[in-house]
Amino acid sequence: MIRVGMLTSGGDCQALNAAMRGVAKCLFNSDKEVEIYGFLDGFKGLITGEYKKLGRGDFSGILTKGGTMLGTSRTPFKEIREPDEEGRDKVSSMKKTYKDMGLDCLIILGGNGTHKTANLLREEGLNIITLPKTIDNDIYGTDMTFGFQSAMDIATNAIDYIHTTADSHGRIFIVEIMGHKTGWLTLNAGIAGGADIILIPEIPYDIEKVVKAIEKRARSGAKFTILAVAEGSMPKELAALPKHERKEIEKTSPYPSVSYAIAAKIKEMTGNDVRVTVPGHMQRGGSPCPYDRVLASRLGAEAGKMILEKDFGKMAGIVNREIVRVPMEDVAGKLKTIDPNASIIKEAKGIGISFGD
Ligand code: F6P
Repeated sequence: MIRVGMLTSGGDCQALNAAMRGVAKCLFNSDKEVEIYGFLDGFKGLITGEYKKLGRGDFSGILTKGGTMLGTSRTPFKEIREPDEEGRDKVSSMKKTYKDMGLDCLIILGGNGTHKTANLLREEGLNIITLPKTIDNDIYGTDMTFGFQSAMDIATNAIDYIHTTADSHGRIFIVEIMGHKTGWLTLNAGIAGGADIILIPEIPYDIEKVVKAIEKRARSGAKFTILAVAEGSMPKELAALPKHERKEIEKTSPYPSVSYAIAAKIKEMTGNDVRVTVPGHMQRGGSPCPYDRVLASRLGAEAGKMILEKDFGKMAGIVNREIVRVPMEDVAGKLKTIDPNASIIKEAKGIGISFGD
């Protein structure tokens, strides 16, 4: 008998259900007797011991369903050693639930923060396997995370929709795309949607250069300009400050997000009105695209194999189109960011996109 626990943690994304289905199908198709338990609402369920037993039927019909059938929540890693609202020690509670249930392994689907906690549990002696989920595509050790391609479709659509109205009115538009720490989604959706200016956290912008790019377009006869701006974009002056000082300044901003600050600056410097569109959590919603269904199924199947082979302490990822097993300690605490000198940036600049640098 193999007893497997499963949980989804952090912000949701498309194809979480598809990935869990991949794990379950692989296990149920083996000649082993398997029991699968799903913890509710992320690490919370593991801490409080709230779970449900999942049979074959629970994994049926979920390949195309967005969200997560287990629910999710954020349990910040920096607070992992602090007691929860009920005064429970989180780490020892998680270990106790795992031991009391006689689990052989725990599958954790999560992003960057989740990988830190997963690695901690591994260090504490639990058998952990992780799967890389996030629309941000910023997990170290894998070329791609599931959720990213689906979110890219949605963000690209948002830019496409804005194009027609921007053209009709001859306006400047900002489409704000998710990604606080990295700009993968903004960069790719920005190129796919034909944005004229792309601002990402990895390339702090100079507002003068942004305005110059807008004016250059206007001089060339373009009626409108579209900026794809990542949530975590920041001006050069702010990026030069130590993180804590930057955070303090950001707290005092009168704007709901960076895009509104940029819009106000452009208005001040050019006299032109700027409209801001924020697709927000829509980018995490709905059905996974076919690419994500395939990726999540492949990664899930690999995690199933890892369980059968007792190959724990690793994340299933994809590198050069092949599924790989990456030691969890190589993943946790690292961020996969865009190199400002990467060829994709040069190519984007080559087709006239400005990064405000
Ligand atoms: O990590 C995924 C993500 O969607 C980020 O792109 C975004 O900045 C963040 O989560 C939003 O978090 P929340 O759902 O807690 O508002």
